[in-house]
Amino acid sequence: MLDKVKELIGEVDAFQSSNVEEIEAFRIKFLGKKGILTDLFAEFKNVAEDERKEFGLYINTLKNAAQEKVTFLKEVIENAKGFKTKYGDLTRPAEPIELGNRHPISLVKNQIVDIFSRIGFTVSEGPEMEDDWHNFTGLNLPEHHPARDMQDTFFLQKNPDMLLRTHTSSVQMRYMESHQPPIRTVSPGRVFRNEDISARSHCIFHQVEGLYIDTDVSFADLKQTLLYFTKEMFGKSKIRLRPSYFPFTEPSAEVDIYWGLETEVDYKITKGTGWLEIMGCGMVDPNVLKNVNIDPTKYSGFAFGMGIERIAMLLYQIPDIRMFYENDVRFLEQFKSVR
Ligand code: DAH
Repeated sequence: MLDKVKELIGEVDAFQSSNVEEIEAFRIKFLGKKGILTDLFAEFKNVAEDERKEFGLYINTLKNAAQEKVTFLKEVIENAKGFKTKYGDLTRPAEPIELGNRHPISLVKNQIVDIFSRIGFTVSEGPEMEDDWHNFTGLNLPEHHPARDMQDTFFLQKNPDMLLRTHTSSVQMRYMESHQPPIRTVSPGRVFRNEDISARSHCIFHQVEGLYIDTDVSFADLKQTLLYFTKEMFGKSKIRLRPSYFPFTEPSAEVDIYWGLETEVDYKITKGTGWLEIMGCGMVDPNVLKNVNIDPTKYSGFAFGMGIERIAMLLYQIPDIRMFYENDVRFLEQFKSVR
C-alpha cells in the first residue's frame, strides 16, 4: 500500500503540462470527489494500526504535491499569457544588441577640434562645392599661377567657375568675409583632389584648417600654438618649422614633429630620421587680408592646415588610406573603445 502511494507521489512530481484540459484532468484524477485521494483516505481504516501514522504522512504529502502542482502549472500558463500580450515572450533569449562606434576620421577630427576649442578657437564650416575665388584667386592663387598645379582640381562640368574645394583654406576666406578680427577658428571638412587612388593618397580626404587674426600676432604665437597642439595630440613636445611655400602665407613653413626612433615602425614612418611632417602653416599673406577687407597694416595672423587621415594613420598605425572608406566592419569595430 505504502509503495503504491510513493509511486503516485513520483507520478505527481513528474507531471508536466501547459494544456488547461490536461491539468484539469490531472486535478480530477487526484483531487476530485471520486479521485485517488478520496479512495486513499477511505482506505485509511483498513491500514494496520502501527502503519497508520506513516501512511497518513505519505497521503498528506501526495495531496499537497498534487495541489501545488496544479496551482503551479496554472500560474505558468497565466504568466505566459500576460507576457505575450504586454511584452512579448519574456522567456525567449535576448537579442544581442550591437553597440555602434564612431568612424576613426570623426574621432580624430573631434580630438583636434576639442584641443583648439580649449584655447578659444571656434568651429566653422564652408561648402564642399566652391567657387574659384574662395578656393584659389582670393587666396593669392590667380589663374595660371603655377601653384595651382599643386592641387589637381575637379571642376564642375556645367560651370567651370565652380569646383570641389581642394582644401579647407577656402573656409578661411568665407570666415574673414563675415567676421572681423579678433578671429580664432578651426574649420574641419572634406576636400577633393583629382589624384590617383593608392595606399597613400585618395581623391577624397579630410582636413582641418586653422586661422588666427588679431593685432600684433607674430610667428612666435604660431609656433607656440602648434607646440601646444602637438603636445596635446601626440604627447610629443619637440617640433620644427621648415621653410616652405604656400601662396596664401608669407613666410610659410612645414611643421615636423619629433616622433622618435624607438621602434621599427618609428624607423619606417620617419624614414629613419625620427621626424614627421604633419601640416603646413604660415603668416597670412597681406594680399589675402586685403581681399577680405581686413587692414593688413592693423592686423596680422597665422593659418595652418592638416590632413586628418594622415594623423589618424599615424595615431592608429593604419597602413592604407583606402581602409577609411571601405567601411569594412572588422576595421571599424577596432575603434569601439576609443572616444
Ligand atoms: N591648404 C594647404 C594644403 O591643402 C594646407 C595649408 C598650408 C593651409 C598652409 C594653411 C597654411 O592655412 O597656412 O596643402
